[in-house]
Amino acid sequence: EKGGYEHFMLKEMYEQPKAIMDTFSPRLKNGNIVIEELGMSEEDIRSIRKIMIVACGSAYHTGMTSKYVFEGLARIPVEVDLASEFRYRNPILDEGTLLIVVSQSGETADTLAALREAKDKGVRVLGIVNVVGSSIAREADNVMYTWAGPEIAVATTKAYSAQLISLYLLAMKFAHVRGELSDKGLADMIEELKELPTQVEMLLNNKNKIQKFANRYLAAKSIFFIGRGIDYAISLEGSLKLKEVSYIHSEAYAAGELKHGTISLIEEGTLVCSVLTQEELYKKTISNMVEVKTRGAFVMAVTNVDNTEVEKAADYVIYLPKTNKYFTNSLAIIPLQLFGYYVAVGRGCDVDKPRNLAKSVTVE
Ligand code: F6R
Repeated sequence: EKGGYEHFMLKEMYEQPKAIMDTFSPRLKNGNIVIEELGMSEEDIRSIRKIMIVACGSAYHTGMTSKYVFEGLARIPVEVDLASEFRYRNPILDEGTLLIVVSQSGETADTLAALREAKDKGVRVLGIVNVVGSSIAREADNVMYTWAGPEIAVATTKAYSAQLISLYLLAMKFAHVRGELSDKGLADMIEELKELPTQVEMLLNNKNKIQKFANRYLAAKSIFFIGRGIDYAISLEGSLKLKEVSYIHSEAYAAGELKHGTISLIEEGTLVCSVLTQEELYKKTISNMVEVKTRGAFVMAVTNVDNTEVEKAADYVIYLPKTNKYFTNSLAIIPLQLFGYYVAVGRGCDVDKPRNLAKSVTVE
């Protein structure tokens, strides 16, 4: 049933081009984004004053990424919260708030409780869910399914990728309806969206190179990830993938924050993975790479194909094909997933079922 793959995690990483395509295709109609299941009129979309995104773990990271997309593209303020925090902080929810809950399983206890809390307060809840008919899917006012198919490996990969796509579609739709994105702007973004499956495939095909690199770090004590903006959200997910399957300690830091403490953890040979996909931030992050390199770090960079500048400060570079600045997470996460996976495989870990973890967390 693993279809020739050694693990479900690898199989599911390879299913990402399809998960991405199956999630956007049904929502593209005659050059427009049509999300019928949203149940919102254009007037409803125009009256949104604030979006709150609530989720756990990797799903929370997709929310963090989409904050930059909703705010940058649609100019709607976004708050992102961990479901377990949201519930207990008496959040301010009013009529103009749209609450989006993101969940692969649709059964995560804290996310479900957050949804109920918001519904009690009369706020509209949209669920972005992978499992059809799950509790969150049933209880949300509206459901936008991620069509990733069943995900078996505990560490999420293809559902994560499909969640990102759903959130991009929403942000693009909202931006267009609210007049922040022109017809031409929308059409261009749709073209870029359609290229993602092939680009993801290309990145997956680098797996042998990444495995070789990963094999150098099987005995690492600690691995760091840094990035700014969307790249910080990508770093959080890259770090989570690595630590949950390989059991190597890892932290993700907003690149500019490192010098406020964490830089003391950098030793000779410590691996720092730096994510740079936002052109306006290249220079700033490169200077943080220099800071850690000067302290002995080995710096691996994941960046866009045009950013050859990075080679000044990196010891090893993975280049990403060109895409829209808001879609870069979909590409940058691929080498990071592969890296985490191969470190875990090299260490003989139970990749599909890491110790102490469950696929769906139904306790609070
Ligand atoms: C990490 C991972 C978890 C889940 C989290 C939320 O690889 O899989 O962090 O993302 O437990 O689960 P769902 O999406 O089912 O609500």
